[in-house]
Amino acid sequence: MELIRAQEIMFTHPDHAQQVSDPDYAFGAAFVADRFCPLLEASIPLVDAGLFHADAVYDVVSVSRGMFFRLEEHQARFARACDAIRVRNPYDTAQEAAILHEVVARAGLRDAYVWWTVTRGLPPMGRNDMVDPDKFENRFYAFATNFVFMFDDDQRARGIDLIVSRDRIRIPPRAVDPRAKNFHWLDMQMALFEAGDRGAEWAVLTDADGYLAEATGANIFAIVDGAVVTPDSGCLEGLTRQSVLELCRELGLPAVCRRVHADELRAAQEVFMTTTAGSIMPVRSVDSHVLSEPSGAGEISIRLHNLYWEKRWAGWHATPVRYDLAGSPT
Ligand SMILES: Cc1ncc(COP(=O)(O)O)c(C=O)c1O
Repeated sequence: MELIRAQEIMFTHPDHAQQVSDPDYAFGAAFVADRFCPLLEASIPLVDAGLFHADAVYDVVSVSRGMFFRLEEHQARFARACDAIRVRNPYDTAQEAAILHEVVARAGLRDAYVWWTVTRGLPPMGRNDMVDPDKFENRFYAFATNFVFMFDDDQRARGIDLIVSRDRIRIPPRAVDPRAKNFHWLDMQMALFEAGDRGAEWAVLTDADGYLAEATGANIFAIVDGAVVTPDSGCLEGLTRQSVLELCRELGLPAVCRRVHADELRAAQEVFMTTTAGSIMPVRSVDSHVLSEPSGAGEISIRLHNLYWEKRWAGWHATPVRYDLAGSPT
């Protein structure tokens, strides 16, 4: 089965063409300090704790063919993350949704990467106020820009070269809970550099006992003894992961969330990663061990990938973008 060249379709199909009325917004639109602005003009204060302490939660939802994917679930996950780190979102769910619609609409994007955050924000002025979460001025920021693929069509079609990091483990959930999608990325980024040093393209991290947690910016799946398995803890509850679990049910594939040891990954029939910015990303090798001969993306991974895009473009879990908001006053 051929992998659907989703990126090429986004570049060439008329249903995916950007239609921006104000050229200043061609690169994207942002929402900062209660106002919309072109993405390249957006900035945050240097003293925002989101920047200097990586003290923030965020989320990313995608738009394709003019439709958000699982918007309400992304917003619900984000609300849980805000509660988990004790920041207050200055906007309610409906206001937040309207902002997300409007950044996409202003940029006229049919395929978009839509990011938003609430940072700890501005620190309190009083000396002993750092102990009180209510004393910080939490800040909301959002932007939309062109949809990005973590791996392009050719890479997804031939499969990714992955390593299991030896140098790093994923930060333990008791230190920073990965279920609250947050700015802490150093473990994952350093593992990526290790991947580069070892001649690979991406990295997955384990916990201290060698059980898989998640890949850099993505969830990890393996096909072991005919079943699709993915870690049940130590990772973000990804919405692409959730979508894959639903697709497995539809295809009659057994799927299990459980602890998965890194050794199972190297011996798996197939491996793939999932994330909003990239969908389902087949893996062809783990720690230089080629999973199948001839090497390439696995059949089941490709079936899941293709079904994901076919269903999305047919309106699965979709919320149409409100393009009528493009011209509302800032
Ligand atoms: C650490 C981490 N794990 C998993 C994911 C995948 O989550 P989702 O499928 O909701 O994008 C992401 C997405 O950015 C991530 O940053």
